[in-house]
Amino acid sequence: MKGIILAAGNGTRLYPASLPISKILLPVFDKPMIYYPITTLMLAGIRDILIISNPHDIENFKRVLGDGKEIGVNFSYTIQKVPRGIAESFIIAEEYIQNEPCALILGDNIFHGFGFSSMLKGIVQKNSGATIFGYKVKDPERFGVVEFDENNNVLSLEEKPKNPKSDFAITGLYFYDNKATEYAKTLKPSNRGELEITDLNRIYLENGNLKAEVLGRGFAWLDTGTTESLLQASNFVSSMEINTGMKISCIEEVAYRMGYISKDDLFEISKKFKNEYGKYLERIALRN
Ligand code: DAU
Repeated sequence: MKGIILAAGNGTRLYPASLPISKILLPVFDKPMIYYPITTLMLAGIRDILIISNPHDIENFKRVLGDGKEIGVNFSYTIQKVPRGIAESFIIAEEYIQNEPCALILGDNIFHGFGFSSMLKGIVQKNSGATIFGYKVKDPERFGVVEFDENNNVLSLEEKPKNPKSDFAITGLYFYDNKATEYAKTLKPSNRGELEITDLNRIYLENGNLKAEVLGRGFAWLDTGTTESLLQASNFVSSMEINTGMKISCIEEVAYRMGYISKDDLFEISKKFKNEYGKYLERIALRN
């Protein structure tokens, strides 16, 4: 399965903080924001990852992440010239996807919770239709919203409805079979001029091919859309890391635990960082 990280927005809600560099490269506590979606894809077992950025920021992503070989993954890069909608990713990435199933994650979405990795692996193995994730929020009108029946079957999907039919936001992580590009090409721009991911998901729903997993209580789905929520995300990661002594979304550690790199590889990488991050990697390489 291929993976896409969409990181092409201009981050205007975070201006002036995101003027110098893409919001997706700003730090969330101790690492760039993009490390979080990268590890989500890696935990699903996805090793081919396309990063879609805007023309202005693409070189910075390449400089920060390189080709990925050091951590046993393959990063590729392409641009979205203008933010024409999340579903446009599948049109931009058509050649890259090569008719394979594909996962998409928004660069500013952070997921953390027990059992997430096995849930993701199960979805990748199933490999049919589309899967989205619902998460209970207090302000569903800010998101795509999914409505369920009593058996957790999806009844409806709406993008930022004025009167939401449920409290379940649709998170920015989506798994598709090999039909996503074909369907995306049939979409028409919405009132805000975008190819909406919710419209793509609705095609799967109408074909009886959409599944929604609920991320329950105790699971963290963090939004980094505003300066306050970015700070909250940093605070969340710092308190989890300080309390447990374990890092969240450390790409090198995940590569090692997934078996993409060896203990020796991890030890070598640890030497690059003459700081607490390097000591952490060294500790993992030497002890676990
Ligand atoms: O975060 C989850 C939500 O993401 C979903 O609940 C919504 O259904 C979905 O439409 C989306 O809503 P947002 O209002 O958060 O989308 P936004 O326009 O802020 O874009 C999300 C990220 O994707 C942001 O970092 C910018 C980037 N982006 C967005 C568009 C439309 C692109 O890179 N290219 C684009 O064309």
